[in-house]
Amino acid sequence: MLEGRLVRLRAIENGDLLLFVKWINDPDVSFFLQFEPPMSLEDEATWYHHMLNSRDKVFAIETREGRLIGNIGLVGLDWRSRKTDIGIMIGEKDAWSQGYGTDAITVLLRYLFEELNLNRVGLYTDATNLRALRCYEKCGFVREGVVRQHRFSNGRYIDSVQMSVLRQDWEAGKGISSSDQ
Ligand SMILES: CC(C)(COP(=O)(O)OP(=O)(O)OC[C@H]1O[C@@H](n2cnc3c(N)ncnc32)[C@H](O)[C@@H]1OP(=O)(O)O)[C@@H](O)C(=O)NCCC(=O)NCCS
Repeated sequence: MLEGRLVRLRAIENGDLLLFVKWINDPDVSFFLQFEPPMSLEDEATWYHHMLNSRDKVFAIETREGRLIGNIGLVGLDWRSRKTDIGIMIGEKDAWSQGYGTDAITVLLRYLFEELNLNRVGLYTDATNLRALRCYEKCGFVREGVVRQHRFSNGRYIDSVQMSVLRQDWEAGKGISSSDQ
């Protein structure tokens, strides 16, 4: 269990999958994500079992009160270069813009740098996903550049912003840590 100020990150259980499927199939939630809805519970169970046997661990995000609101995890962990990308989904829409995403990412960054001893944590987000961009910058992510027409969605190509936090940034205290007491 990884504890933050607002959230805790815990292992995913089978019983979480029903909510995950609901979120992925909600167009408001999946709009900025690379899923291909509609997805079934069976699709999600396949993903879950694959994840359990992979290096790319995903955690459930729950509030300190125990409400499951999203998930967050690693994408493409590379031990040799000591780097990973991450992805996050706060699926409960009434939980958006309340600091949960910032806290969850801050907790995960601390784990990745201080426990797994990684050197680089990266991500991509749509250039139009202003909430996500703001959230990532609050967590200390730096914009590295725009990847033009990176993704095709809803009938058009969308630019992505590539961002990262390096260990040196983290150690310099650039990660604005909402979870450090
Ligand atoms: C993106 C996401 C992870 C952010 O998590 P969150 O808990 O909503 O974000 P936070 O509350 O920690 O931070 C959001 C910040 O963006 C701001 N914000 C919200 N909407 C905004 C907008 N349209 N333009 C600019 N800033 C905006 C918020 O005010 C807040 O900043 P503040 O604390 O300075 O006021 C979450 O909203 C989410 O999962 N959304 C759906 C799926 C998604 O987009 N995933 C990311 C794919 S890369």
